Amino acid sequence: MELKLEKNKITGREKLLIIPLFKDSDFTLKMPAELHALLKKRQQLKDFTASQGQSLLLLPDSDKLPAKILLCGFGKKEQLNDTSARNSAALAVKAAKKLKLQQAEMILPENLAKHAQAFGEGLGMGNYNPAKYQTGKNKQNNEKTDIKKITIFYDGKDKKLAAALRDGLEIAAAVNEVRDLVNAPPALKTVNYMAEKAREVARQNGYKITVIDKKKLEQMGMGALMGVNRGSTAGAKLVMIEHSPWGSSKKPVVIAGKGIIFDSGGYNLKPSAAMSNMNLDMAGAASVIGLFMLLKKLKVKQHVAGIFALTENLIDANAQKPSDIVTTYSGKTVEISNTDAEGRLILCDTISYALKKWEPRYLIDIATLTGACMVALGERYAGLFSNDKELAAKLEKAGKESDELLWPLPLHPDYSAKMKSKIADLRNSDDSPYAGASKGAAFIQYFVGKTPWAHLDIAGPAHVKEPKKYENEMATGYGVRLFLQFLRNL
Ligand code: BES
Ligand code: ZN
Ligand code: ZN
Repeated sequence: MELKLEKNKITGREKLLIIPLFKDSDFTLKMPAELHALLKKRQQLKDFTASQGQSLLLLPDSDKLPAKILLCGFGKKEQLNDTSARNSAALAVKAAKKLKLQQAEMILPENLAKHAQAFGEGLGMGNYNPAKYQTGKNKQNNEKTDIKKITIFYDGKDKKLAAALRDGLEIAAAVNEVRDLVNAPPALKTVNYMAEKAREVARQNGYKITVIDKKKLEQMGMGALMGVNRGSTAGAKLVMIEHSPWGSSKKPVVIAGKGIIFDSGGYNLKPSAAMSNMNLDMAGAASVIGLFMLLKKLKVKQHVAGIFALTENLIDANAQKPSDIVTTYSGKTVEISNTDAEGRLILCDTISYALKKWEPRYLIDIATLTGACMVALGERYAGLFSNDKELAAKLEKAGKESDELLWPLPLHPDYSAKMKSKIADLRNSDDSPYAGASKGAAFIQYFVGKTPWAHLDIAGPAHVKEPKKYENEMATGYGVRLFLQFLRNL
């Protein structure tokens, strides 16, 4: 979505003018007298109360007024905050899309100075359309509903506001790209494709990037990752990407994503219903790519490293079987008690390597790790597990600020004990149906040592059936905005 900012230039001849209205709006912006009069009269529009999400289309019969005016309710002015600005902006865009004009003009809502970035995020994320693979009439229709260009009228005084608005749209563009990646069919977003995507982001932003492929990973002794990869003919890769701006600390914040291209469960095959959407299982890795689309552009001053392993989890004559034992990169052995608990397997090697390569200030992993976390928290919250109170608090705070929410769940020595094996050092699942999210986290904890670490289980919020106002059904792009906020707060 292209953004144009215009200072006080409302002419009354706009094709579609979106007017955000609070319940108690007054207008200071210069505008044609007819438009001002119409807005003053709006109290007479009985049904329109300007509550959030409400919209009303007016078709004024006057050449001094815009052809179409879309009044959009923003609720009470005193209740404006980042979340409401983001939500209202998305709802306004969604209402405008229905008119199929591909472009819109909009008056900047009042009192927006502090919430301009969130507002921009809402505009961009609200414009997202997941239907990228339709043809014919559907495709034409989708193209018509996309808003390609939005012109925003404002008083031109606040330079910071304009910059924040642009940041918001940049952020939304990255989130939407992550959504596209997560929604993409597994035959398209292959291991190679994902690595290439990371390379492209690195090239565009001047990041350091390293991609290690299957042969080398095998030689290096990444037995847990290679075990998962045995059922796949597509190879495996470990991708590392690094943003180290001038003057930033030596120790990076490391973000490790789960990058399972498709999770069939392996020989512990998922039942059909549970297997649908398992192309979402690389959402953690995708959020790392999305974050790196922004670090340079938004001049984030922190040293940040992203790392993710990529593989499919499939069935094949050569695939690993329950009761196999693998030797992880750390040297610890793991009994494969369930081939469907593959996320923790690829993550443990990813994390061990990250700890060896960097000495992280913080290590955060992000993974669609357990159905159990969804059972516990649903779609709104990611599960937050951490061995470091300060890190957990910082993440929770960033979660509230970005509206990418996190809820703390426990680690406990008893859960850790459950992950011990009778025949190997560890096993990757136990046989009880309870506390599955905590046990997944406890397994990963065996590999993090004393590093301040947090594990985000995003099985719920990565992909949703009940979208928020600025989301659509399916992939959400969860994590990008959370991490950005976290890093900006450091
Ligand atoms: N990718 C799944 C978890 C998942 C489930 C993500 C639903 C998103 C939605 C993961 O690899 C998995 O299969 N976990 C198992 C772990 C169990 C075998 C210990 C699970 O949750 O059942
Ligand atoms: Zn699985
Ligand atoms: Zn999985």
